[in-house]
Amino acid sequence: MTEQSPSIASAGRYALGPRQVRRIGYGAMQLAGDNVFGPPRDRDEALRVLRAAVAGGVNHIDTAQYYGPGVVNELIREALHPYPHDLAIVSKVAARRDESGAVLPYDEPHQLRQGIEENLATLDIDRLAAVNLRMVDRTVAPGKRFDAQLAELVQARDEGLIDGIGLSNISREHLLRAADQTEIVCVQNLFNLADQRSFDVLQECTNRGIAFVPFCPLGWPRGTQNQILTSPVLADLGKQLRATPAQIALAWLLGLAPGILIIPGTRTRTHLAENLGTAAVRLDEASRAELSRHFPAPHRPT
Ligand SMILES: NC(=O)c1ccc[n+]([C@@H]2O[C@H](COP(=O)([O-])OP(=O)(O)OC[C@H]3O[C@@H](n4cnc5c(N)ncnc54)[C@H](OP(=O)(O)O)[C@@H]3O)[C@@H](O)[C@H]2O)c1
Repeated sequence: MTEQSPSIASAGRYALGPRQVRRIGYGAMQLAGDNVFGPPRDRDEALRVLRAAVAGGVNHIDTAQYYGPGVVNELIREALHPYPHDLAIVSKVAARRDESGAVLPYDEPHQLRQGIEENLATLDIDRLAAVNLRMVDRTVAPGKRFDAQLAELVQARDEGLIDGIGLSNISREHLLRAADQTEIVCVQNLFNLADQRSFDVLQECTNRGIAFVPFCPLGWPRGTQNQILTSPVLADLGKQLRATPAQIALAWLLGLAPGILIIPGTRTRTHLAENLGTAAVRLDEASRAELSRHFPAPHRPT
């Protein structure tokens, strides 16, 4: 895998707080069972995917205690512990799963602290590279409660449990309010060719030098309904550029702004290799214009 894959180093690095991480990372959520609940369909392959990601140069892995719950963190620990010194493991807090798999809020300040400690314990690590405060609803304006949640993460950072504070599923208003109070190292929002509603947040991150980590970079839903992976436009561009539709979608993201860190998720080494191979794909202006025509960004401010 490592010898045959093109080096992801050519996609560059970007700051994630005090660290520089490669711009192509790995999102581990898919490794849990269906609906991100319970054990993986193929545990051995899940472990191999994680090891192959790191062997392929990935040094930024996204996870959460509530993936599984606990399942994904345990796989990461089993596959990769003791961790490479440059591996940035980023998690998120503010949700939990119940016995039936339902996702419930876990976002009182003391629960955020609990969430960080649970991540540290299952990953068997002293400190996380960053933890994202994952908002349930980005349309709810931030207020005193948001400030109290943020203060809890500041406390955890001051105590050395985390290196950086991130925000997830937020509006630009959340980012502005948070950045007034403390340093924010990353923002993780839904963003892909077919859903660019967070363009204003991306822009704000770019202006401030904050890493922007688009989740679901390959789109949602999966399968035949996926507007990105089934798009004839991406298939045609892929033929011209000798790339797959997934690589076109990921290369488009990497070309949007230098601070975009991608974390595509997969359960297979085949797709992992393809996603890492995005480093070798460059979209010229004509290709980007073609994509913009078919995937317009109606919410972009002019
Ligand atoms: N902050 C948040 O609230 C939040 C929310 C969602 C996700 N995330 C994070 O973001 C990461 C990425 O998002 P995601 O995993 O939901 O979505 P994604 O990366 O857009 O897509 C993953 C899906 O695409 C398939 N896939 C992956 N590579 C492919 C390829 N080269 N060709 C065709 N299909 C491919 C995967 O199936 P196979 O397994 O078959 O490859 C999987 O079903 C997650 O893993 C998670 O860490 C964060």
